[in-house]
Amino acid sequence: MQIEIFDSELKLAERAADLFEDTIRKNPAAVLGLATGASPVNTYNELIERYRAGKISFADITTFNLDEYCDLPRDDKNSYYSFMQQNLFGKVDIRPENVHIENGNADDFDAEAAAYDRAIEAAGGIDLQLLGIGTNGHIGFNEPADAFTDGTFRIKLTESTIKANSRYFTDSEMPRYALTMGIASIMHAKKILLIATGKAKAEAIYNTVKGPITPRCPASVLRLHQNAILLLDTEAASLL
Ligand code: PGA
Repeated sequence: MQIEIFDSELKLAERAADLFEDTIRKNPAAVLGLATGASPVNTYNELIERYRAGKISFADITTFNLDEYCDLPRDDKNSYYSFMQQNLFGKVDIRPENVHIENGNADDFDAEAAAYDRAIEAAGGIDLQLLGIGTNGHIGFNEPADAFTDGTFRIKLTESTIKANSRYFTDSEMPRYALTMGIASIMHAKKILLIATGKAKAEAIYNTVKGPITPRCPASVLRLHQNAILLLDTEAASLL
């Protein structure tokens, strides 16, 4: 696992965008795995700037998002669909039919999850997967557990995740369930890029890098990936 530490979030975002740009230049029809939350926002802004400057195009890119809340209308302001429209998709030339986010309102969650995995496979797998990390070490919504998870599935969110994300749900109840790519789905990506900033992530990063490889800290599994890069700011790296 490669670790890079930055003294500013903007420098970190530029480096993350460089890695995306490199992937897109090498293959303008690349398949990107995308993440939501605060961690990727600066990176998406940098990618939007590069698109506006004519340096990259998303016209032939396909994307798969990590996760989506269950039982939240797709157009709710807190859905990850809305997040992606606002923070990236609505501002670049990606084709709507090439965008994939789990349907958290599916009638049959198991069928939706299986179809999502089949779609990733049919697209040729993910070339570059972007990840944030939860304060409990989760990646996607793969919460600490007794075993590493496999493909996409429905998960009950832990109290720490509900606490961390409730700040966004000012006028509605935060969903208790989500659909998420599993650990095996994430590990199948050809390259993985994890972004962590701020002191609140320092312990999770310590456990990821120095603790045992265990499903109790799901991100620790990334140490078994051939091509995983951690981009950290000095605060997130402060316990290393
Ligand atoms: P954050 O979330 O980027 O909003 O901190 C990351 C995560 O929970 O995976």
